[in-house]
Amino acid sequence: MSAFTTAIVPAAGLGTRFLPTTKAVPKELLPVVDTPGIELVATEAAEAGATKLVIVTSPGKDAVAQYFRPQPELEQTLAERGKTDLVAKVRRAPELLQVETAIQDKALGLGHAVGCAEGNLTGADEAVAVLLPDDLVLPTGVLTRMAQVRERFGGTVLCAFDIPREQISAYGVFDVRETGDDDVKQVVGMVEKPKAEDAPSTFAAAGRYLLDRAIFDALKRITPGAGGELQLTDAIALLINEGHPVHVVVHRGGRHDLGNPGGFLKAAVDFALEHPDYGPELAQWLRGRLSGS
Ligand code: UTP
Repeated sequence: MSAFTTAIVPAAGLGTRFLPTTKAVPKELLPVVDTPGIELVATEAAEAGATKLVIVTSPGKDAVAQYFRPQPELEQTLAERGKTDLVAKVRRAPELLQVETAIQDKALGLGHAVGCAEGNLTGADEAVAVLLPDDLVLPTGVLTRMAQVRERFGGTVLCAFDIPREQISAYGVFDVRETGDDDVKQVVGMVEKPKAEDAPSTFAAAGRYLLDRAIFDALKRITPGAGGELQLTDAIALLINEGHPVHVVVHRGGRHDLGNPGGFLKAAVDFALEHPDYGPELAQWLRGRLSGS
């Protein structure tokens, strides 16, 4: 039995770091080689046992939900032309899991966006997964590990990366206690973007959350924090203060931040180098480009 069957993907942000493109194209649909980031995280959620995906979107970003709807006419045209591999690609996203949307009218913060999805839950949803579509956590599988930790300790489970201390001030950082398992820590507090010397640990938050349903009550009790937004981390901090168990799984793998052009390009190059059609030529071109020839 999976610890969660519903995954929430907040996709209602303004995407200002990708302007001017995001005037018309949601950043969640920008292709990593040929597949939008949001399909990559939806696949990850489905692999971890989710059967329902709630995409939190804003009134101008219908294309994100549209992407998960079947396109029978396109499928038929491709099938008539014998393009069965393309039919399979087109069907992939709609067949992954049941997709619903929740609307966030105004980008009031990640915490507010998650709260908007409460109406999509059923009585059976004791916990929900939240995946940020601009954060690729590689290799996939950390949500399964997080579900096992919830089975053991109950409560809420987050994902952390062990970051070099000199880079830690760019992140939300966990104050942790040991559990006897090197990769699982109890969280006793969180600090946003501390100075390296003040950071309580080198464990930084990543965009994967397995949240106990109690989070929705906590989200109603917080006030706007950094940037005037309702912060998810403030609601988690409230739960910690009230004695609710919160743990992190330390993910010893890679990560791509698709939320800014620099990180996005690294992900695209990384995935393209692995791609059988594009990898070899890209590698050759890059070698030449970097050696100046
Ligand atoms: P980000 O801060 O990375 O996205 O939020 P953003 O606000 O769209 O990007 P910039 O900073 O303006 O460039 C992480 C995720 O949370 C969603 C975003 O869509 C993104 O997927 N989000 C953020 C919401 O759904 N609503 C919000 O109010 C804020």
